[in-house]
Amino acid sequence: MTISASPAETIAHGQALAATLRRGDVLALSGDLGAGKTHFVKGLAAGLGTAASVTSPTFTLLHEYPGGRLPLYHFDLYRLDDADEALRIGLDEYLYGDGVCVIEWAEKFPALLPPYTRWLRFIHREDGTREIRESGAL
Ligand SMILES: Nc1ncnc2c1ncn2[C@@H]1O[C@H](COP(=O)(O)OP(=O)(O)O)[C@@H](O)[C@H]1O
Ligand SMILES: [Mg+2]
Repeated sequence: MTISASPAETIAHGQALAATLRRGDVLALSGDLGAGKTHFVKGLAAGLGTAASVTSPTFTLLHEYPGGRLPLYHFDLYRLDDADEALRIGLDEYLYGDGVCVIEWAEKFPALLPPYTRWLRFIHREDGTREIRESGAL
């Protein structure tokens, strides 16, 4: 469990975690709107060394960040209505592909994800800080 007191700290946590990532890893991020998930992904992208700046793929479902140590595939399932839609956009090809997948709102469709998925839960605490908890499964 980690506490983050600022957006910059959340980015730094993402950056630190990026150093541990290997080809094929899947990170599932859960937590309310504004909990800091996208900021964490900014850190992952920076840590992997991608040049592009990270924005939320809420409307497009997927942003790809090539050019780093590993390609990063950033999903946001917030607007997704059913699991079939995710399969239609080729989720499986990314999950079992050549890079790292990070998925916001993954808790909506946990059955889509492989058993080795690393789950990170973001909690907006009353004092304004964010708690980031990792667990093996949801
Ligand atoms: N410790 C913190 N970590 C991350 N974001 C924070 C933190 N404290 C305040 N914020 C603010 O909360 C919002 C988080 O937004 P975002 O990362 O897009 O969240 P999510 O993707 O979970 O909806 C931003 O407006 C950011 O400035
Ligand atoms: Mg987000």
